[in-house]
Amino acid sequence: VVINSLSGPLLKQSIKLLAYHGHFVEWGKRDVFDRTALSMFDLRSDCSIHVIDLISLSDKQQDICTDMLEEMVQLFIQKKLKPIEPTVIYEPSQVKEAFLRCNSGQAMGKSVVRLTNSSEPLYVNSKPSTGHLSTDNHAMFPLEVCQQGTVLISGGFGGLGLTMSRWMIEKRGVKHVTLMSRRTLIELEQASNPQYDDWLKLKQISKTYDAHVDVVQVDVTNFDQVHDLIERLSQTSHPVRGIIHSAVVAEDRSLGNLTQEHLARVLAAKVHGAWIFHQVIQLTHASIHFFIMFSSIRNHLLELAAASYNAGNQFLDALAHYRMTELNLPALSVSLPAVSGAGMFHRHRDVLTSLQLTQGFELVPTVAVFELIEHFQANQTMCPCPVIFAVSWQTLYQRRHKLPTFHLSKIVEERHAAMNLSNTSSTSSGINSTIDSNLNQKEVIIERTQTAVSRLLGATNVDRILVDRPLVSQGMDSLAALSLYNWLGQETGIFIPLADLLQGFSIETIATVVHKKLNERHETVSITNGGQDMRTDVVDENEIIPSNTSTYTGTENIICLQRTHVSGSPIRFCIAEKSTNNTYGPSFALFISNIDGQQTEEIPVATYVIQISSMIPLATISTYAQDMITQMRRVQPRGPYQLVAMRNKQEEVIAREMIRQLKDHLVINDVQFLLLDD
Ligand SMILES: NC(=O)c1ccc[n+]([C@@H]2O[C@H](COP(=O)([O-])OP(=O)(O)OC[C@H]3O[C@@H](n4cnc5c(N)ncnc54)[C@H](OP(=O)(O)O)[C@@H]3O)[C@@H](O)[C@H]2O)c1
Repeated sequence: VVINSLSGPLLKQSIKLLAYHGHFVEWGKRDVFDRTALSMFDLRSDCSIHVIDLISLSDKQQDICTDMLEEMVQLFIQKKLKPIEPTVIYEPSQVKEAFLRCNSGQAMGKSVVRLTNSSEPLYVNSKPSTGHLSTDNHAMFPLEVCQQGTVLISGGFGGLGLTMSRWMIEKRGVKHVTLMSRRTLIELEQASNPQYDDWLKLKQISKTYDAHVDVVQVDVTNFDQVHDLIERLSQTSHPVRGIIHSAVVAEDRSLGNLTQEHLARVLAAKVHGAWIFHQVIQLTHASIHFFIMFSSIRNHLLELAAASYNAGNQFLDALAHYRMTELNLPALSVSLPAVSGAGMFHRHRDVLTSLQLTQGFELVPTVAVFELIEHFQANQTMCPCPVIFAVSWQTLYQRRHKLPTFHLSKIVEERHAAMNLSNTSSTSSGINSTIDSNLNQKEVIIERTQTAVSRLLGATNVDRILVDRPLVSQGMDSLAALSLYNWLGQETGIFIPLADLLQGFSIETIATVVHKKLNERHETVSITNGGQDMRTDVVDENEIIPSNTSTYTGTENIICLQRTHVSGSPIRFCIAEKSTNNTYGPSFALFISNIDGQQTEEIPVATYVIQISSMIPLATISTYAQDMITQMRRVQPRGPYQLVAMRNKQEEVIAREMIRQLKDHLVINDVQFLLLDD
């Protein structure tokens, strides 16, 4: 007997499981009401199919239902039946989100809407600006965390600490954040501090959202300091309810150069810090809702130079596992990918380039990482040490024999076989092969992508997904973007950066990029009869119409036009005006033609466009330029900078103001400025 509630392709797979004389019991609704067609061939084994509608059953045959219910209650009491995990709890004002989760067809477990009693306030139609919760993930941010508690972050003044604080306040309604740092606030508030801009932004956001951010000079490796801080906060109206352990001392050394002192320094922040938190939480009986530790993808790969860093991360994973499985206490150790927009890798572009080039790792935007952490927090009982990464499976496959565990190489091999990457151009059954047989069929990509997206977003009808509208504005969150990223990679062998998918790409834009790259690949294969590593990825943005609708990534105005895979290569920032209909002015075309010329240069130059609005009021030029500098420094934290702009245009005004501020406020004098003539 197969009892099924899966829909679409999964329904068809379930039917295939039927044995001879089997019974198929369908109690899902979607395929019945969608009039899904089934193949008679799959029903050839003399089987029977029953469609059960529990609602009409309870109407028409009440006795049977009562008996079944009683039997079920007994089975629950005897613990023979168990509730399906996880249970995600929503506020009454979030009914819509609860249904959307159910409807996505992706969610396991239960969505529960909390019943408030009459004395509790009911937050109807909550918006971030009111400070109330705005999303579905109460597993991490219930009211006692957001409104009545403090989130404590070690390494709080680091890249991820600051950006995550900002996100928690802005997007999740958290009201009290305490950042731990070994330095004093005066030291931290120096303009030369690479985190200075992020700190200013956080201060601004906390003011807007009426939140409180405290910076305390506490060393996470000092037991007394941590104990006193948590004890002190427990006597306030907002005790510690969530802990994020983000402190790290990042100093890579190969095994041969490792000394006792170095090892102790690197291990202290991660290992000692985490253990102190663990002890203090128990000693002070702090009722914490989450304890999240930041581990790294790097300790799942063979990295000789990062022995002590990896050891520290292994400890975090082990501690999370121990707390969760042995003590049943909240704990999550998330192995993070290289994060774009903030943090240690963002500051060390050379490490990043080598990670991308040699190990195939892709950057994941901060917001996607935070949402995934939230998702894992809800599932921590099942998996206390999840790993987040976006990877080029092709590159990982090439170095599969160097991977640290046999298990990992096996996963990579299986994945490689499943994705058919070795021969994508001739054997794939996906878009790729269709395109190869007819290179001009961009429509095929659009159609297949539209179907995939509608499935991912749980749309009842494919046509509800509009091909020319940004996917983020049609309900695509970072989890769905990740699935789409994987699907596209699997179907086409082309990986569109997550940041791009989340920054307003429509299906049409995706199809343009995929189609172009497939054509390029096809041409390369036919000319050279063998693939060659491309040193630069140029995306022709003329064909792409980016949208205003974007989620927060910290670099909303910046798009990458040409990236290089050469470590330490210079970056050029071109300032281009975006017109009201979302296309670019003449300067943009000029940049494109210039870039083509640049490709012959010995040292490749990465090119980014800083998009500016068409009519910036004179009074706001200064703040506008300041914001552009902040975003530019997220891509390139330190000078020298190269700016390009059109002469006698608004672009020139913004560029000059940016240069002035770089010099006057940040004491960065090394700025090259190139003016283009019409
Ligand atoms: N960013 C990424 O792409 C990435 C990728 C994988 C994993 N991770 C993990 O994510 C975490 C945060 O990374 P990040 O990029 O935000 O690092 P970061 O920018 O370098 O910040 C780390 C912070 O840790 C603080 N710290 C070090 N020792 C401390 C101590 N004893 N007590 C208190 N604070 C201490 C430092 O602050 P003070 O000097 O002010 O004390 C520093 O600001 C790390 O655990 C890292 O391993 C990050």
